[in-house]
Amino acid sequence: MGSNAKIDQYAVVGNPIHHSKSPKIHGEFAVQTQETIEYSAIQAPIDGFEAMVKSFFSNGGKGLNVTVPFKEQAWSLCAELSERAKLAGAVNTLYQNQHGDLCGENTDGVGLVRDLMVNHQVSLKGKRILVLGAGGAVRGVLLPILEESPGSVTVANRTVAKAEQLKALFAGHGELQACGFDELSDAFDIIINGTSASLQGDLPPLPDCIISCSTVAYDMMYAPEQTIFNQWASSLGAHSTYDGLGMLVEQAAESFYIWRKVRVDTRPILEMLRAFD
Ligand code: ATR
Repeated sequence: MGSNAKIDQYAVVGNPIHHSKSPKIHGEFAVQTQETIEYSAIQAPIDGFEAMVKSFFSNGGKGLNVTVPFKEQAWSLCAELSERAKLAGAVNTLYQNQHGDLCGENTDGVGLVRDLMVNHQVSLKGKRILVLGAGGAVRGVLLPILEESPGSVTVANRTVAKAEQLKALFAGHGELQACGFDELSDAFDIIINGTSASLQGDLPPLPDCIISCSTVAYDMMYAPEQTIFNQWASSLGAHSTYDGLGMLVEQAAESFYIWRKVRVDTRPILEMLRAFD
């Protein structure tokens, strides 16, 4: 950090990290808002995340984004966690409070909800929502979904016991239905794919009946081409399909707000990223 000691330093930490769009996104946020920051990408060794975080902040770093596979570890390092982060069991945003304590927030769920509601004008209120998957990615987004007063939220997972665990975990915050894919027998208004199946180019074994002509399909993953899940939903006549690029930009905007107290206009950045892909 030597020659840039006066510029506020931020970074995203993961392993691997070369694919990350966060430096580009935050770089654009900084230009738009005229905030003077530097934002880099750091690959921490798999067993060296904690040491990296300590050294980053003790060298005057202001904030970190955390990505795979360190989000849960980041959570366990925090002295202070927001309510959302506590329930999420993972954090993607780190900063220090005025006492120098490490604080954690999870902005993924807010990013998802804002992408749906603001960018795509899809209200969640009263809607029948199906969330596919019950891993870390899904746990990270459930509270902000529940906070929008949906009609019902069903979590369906290959391993049903994990969906049931989430149901129990979120019990005080809203009602979740938990089931396996083969128990799904009706159409949903909104289906959010939070399984990692898409990453391997797989589609969970879903019954066609969950899609109707008014279903909005949302894949938390993004890709230059339509994701396999979204292709499947489109082929069954879903009303619309969206991928997770907007969620990525919105979670970044929320992190930027936490660090800088400045709101960005995400639209031009999202358009630029789409054109770039
Ligand atoms: P992440 O942090 O991405 O959520 P994770 O915690 O390993 O990763 O969770 C992966 C999720 O994707 C799980 O819900 C997993 O189902 P299981 O709990 O049954 O393992 C789901 N998943 C992964 N590959 C899948 C596939 N091919 N079909 C259906 N679900 C799959």
